[in-house]
Amino acid sequence: MSYEAILVVREDAVGIITLNRPQALNALNSQLMDELTAAVDAFEADDGIGCIIITGSEKAFAAGADIKEMKSKSYMDVYKEDFITAKWERVTRTRKPVIAAVAGFALGGGCELAMMCDFIIAADNAKFGQPEIKLGVIPGAGGTQRLTRFVGKAKAMDMCLTGRMMDAAEAERSGLVSRVVPLADLMTVTREAAKSIAALSRPAVMICKESINRSYETTLAEGIRFERRVFHSLFATEDQKEGMSAFADKRPAEFKHR
Ligand code: HXC
Repeated sequence: MSYEAILVVREDAVGIITLNRPQALNALNSQLMDELTAAVDAFEADDGIGCIIITGSEKAFAAGADIKEMKSKSYMDVYKEDFITAKWERVTRTRKPVIAAVAGFALGGGCELAMMCDFIIAADNAKFGQPEIKLGVIPGAGGTQRLTRFVGKAKAMDMCLTGRMMDAAEAERSGLVSRVVPLADLMTVTREAAKSIAALSRPAVMICKESINRSYETTLAEGIRFERRVFHSLFATEDQKEGMSAFADKRPAEFKHR
């Protein structure tokens, strides 16, 4: 498939998707989201890929859903097409890890897309926000739910009710992003993180991700039970033997399943 609204690059075991509508600060229109879905599908199906990065430009990760495309939709339009969830949920169903590398604006659907990834590495110029309230609507792709889980009720209410932006330092303090790095280092640091994940045992990485995500869906006791069972299952893999033998032999592990 050829892409117009995104750039797709494969660097060894890392797949990089760059949102690319600079004229609209990477506003997420239906073409871009269709292409993003197709690119994620392709990387997920590609055995050689161990980690995916989603990024934007230095000025904007994405300034939200495309307001100009959305503004004249009727209730029946959005209801019938289940706007916008159906198209956007692909990233949340990815079994391989997905890192968001965010510089500049991550607003509305842009912030929601970043939160659908497994973790966010932010440049020091990043700005996060859910400004939908200023447009007469509310976040519609998980913003009221995921943001609340990340930053807690007080900040989620503040962000969603006032529509104000959070800078990178506040986002890190609040638990929305895992690291903040200088803008010039954003892609180097993110590539390093992605490469290191892609070099590990694929089943261990995928099961680890699944287990952490489980904690958002279940009670602590059930989550602990789930973790123990999948932890046990990893002892059936060759990679567990290799990882532990390599440690004992004082040599780097050579994982087979990656
Ligand atoms: C469509 C957008 C856009 C958007 C920016 N642009 N954001 N187009 N949808 N979300 C376009 C502008 O119209 C403009 O096009 C060009 O990008 C540059 O933007 P400027 O506003 O001139 O840039 P600047 O002055 O630097 O301001 C940057 C900004 C502002 C603060 C990010 O653009 C802004 O407030 N954007 C909207 C942010 C927002 O409300 N996001 C939430 C969307 S609703 P022209 O042609 O004029 O040059 C949403 C709902 C999701 O995401 C719910 C789930 C579906």
